[in-house]
Amino acid sequence: MKPDTIYCGDSAELLSSWPEGCVDLAFADPPFNIGYVYDNYVDDKPNAEYVAWTRDWMAACRRVLKADGSFYIAIGDDFAADVRVIGRELGLHLRNWIIWRYTFGQNMKAKFCRAHTHIFYFTKDAQVFTFNDRQLRFPSARHTEYQDLRANPLGRLPDDVWDEFPRVCGTFRERAGFHGCQMPEALLMRIIMASSNPGEIVLDPFVGSGTTAAAAKRLGRRYVGIDISPEYAKHTRERLRGVTDDSSAKPQDGCWPAFHTEMLMQLYRETKVTLANLLPNEVALRVIAASLSERVGHAYSVADVRAEFERVAATKVLPKLPNDTPYTPRDHWTTEGKRYVRKTARQRRRLNGELLFADAGGFLGHQRK
Ligand SMILES: C[S@@+](CC[C@H](N)C(=O)[O-])C[C@H]1O[C@@H](n2cnc3c(N)ncnc32)[C@H](O)[C@@H]1O
Repeated sequence: MKPDTIYCGDSAELLSSWPEGCVDLAFADPPFNIGYVYDNYVDDKPNAEYVAWTRDWMAACRRVLKADGSFYIAIGDDFAADVRVIGRELGLHLRNWIIWRYTFGQNMKAKFCRAHTHIFYFTKDAQVFTFNDRQLRFPSARHTEYQDLRANPLGRLPDDVWDEFPRVCGTFRERAGFHGCQMPEALLMRIIMASSNPGEIVLDPFVGSGTTAAAAKRLGRRYVGIDISPEYAKHTRERLRGVTDDSSAKPQDGCWPAFHTEMLMQLYRETKVTLANLLPNEVALRVIAASLSERVGHAYSVADVRAEFERVAATKVLPKLPNDTPYTPRDHWTTEGKRYVRKTARQRRRLNGELLFADAGGFLGHQRK
C-alpha cells in the first residue's frame, strides 16, 4: 500500500494484499444497489449477493484499520440495517448512526420525498479512538438565542442529524463533472477532522470522484483511494493534481487564506443565524473564533472573525441559510398564472392514470385514482 495513491481494482481483493492495521480512518460510500448507472459496475445485484459482498469489503476494510481506527459507511435505506448487523458481527463498535439530511433531494410522486443518507460511524475499539471534538464545535442556541455566558465557550458538538451539507448539484462550482454521486467535500472534512490527525492515512475503498482523497489532501492527511473504474480513477488522479494541502496556510499581510474563509463560511452554515443577528452577538462570535482557530491551526480573535464576515458580506455572497430566502415580489396571479395553467395541462396529458387539478390561482394537486 502506497500512500497518496489512487488504485484501480476491486477493493476487497486489493485490500486483502495490504498489511493489517495500516489505515487510520476509512470512509466508504459503496454503490447502494439501486440500479444507478456507473462506468463499469452493475448496481443491481440480487439482495443476498449484495449483502455477502458488503460483508466481504467491510471485513477487508476492518482488517486494514489500525487498532484505534475509525470506519464510516454511507448507505441508503434498503441496506442500512444489513450494514449495522454486519458491523456488529465483525466486532465494530457503533458510535453514531448519522443521518445526512440534504437539500435538493429527489422529487417523488406517490411517497414522501427522499432527502437523507445513512452514515454509520464505527470504531475498531470501543474505548481507544481519535475524536477531535474541538474542531467540530459551533455555537448552540444557548449562545445564539440567549447569549448565555454559562454555555461552553468552546461551543457544542453537531447532532447526529447533519443538515448543513447540500448535495453537490450539477451547477455547483465544486462539481468535478465526471461522476454522478459526488459527495460534498465539507462533509468529508468534518469526518476527517473528527477521526484523524495530520499525516495519518485515510482510505476510501469506493473513491468515485475522489472527494475523500481531495478532502484528506487539503487537511494534510495522506490518502489512499480505490475504484473499480479505470475512468473514474484516471479523472480522480487529475482532480487531485489540482488540490493543494491547505493545512499549513497562514494569513499574509492581514489577508485570510481562502481555506480559512471557507472554514468560517462552514461555521456560518452550522450556526444557522443570519449575519445581521450574528455580528452583534459577542458570545456566539467567541465560539466561532475558538472553533475556527482549532480547525485551521491559527489563532483568530473575535475582531478578526467579525472583520472577515463583513468583508465577505461586502464582496461575495454569503452561504444561503435554509430559512433565509429573501422575499422577491412575483406576479403569479396574472402574467405567470397563464403560463402555469398551460404547463399544468401539459402535465395532465403526460400523467395518464393520474388526476390533476389546477385551479385558477395555479394550484396544482394530484392524486392517484
Ligand atoms: C457511490 S460511488 C462513490 C462516490 C464517492 N463517494 C464520491 O464522492 O465521488 C461508488 C463507487 O464505487 C465504485 N465501485 C463499485 N464496485 C467497486 C469495487 N468492487 N471496488 C472498488 N470500487 C468499486 C464505483 O465505480 C463508484 O465509483
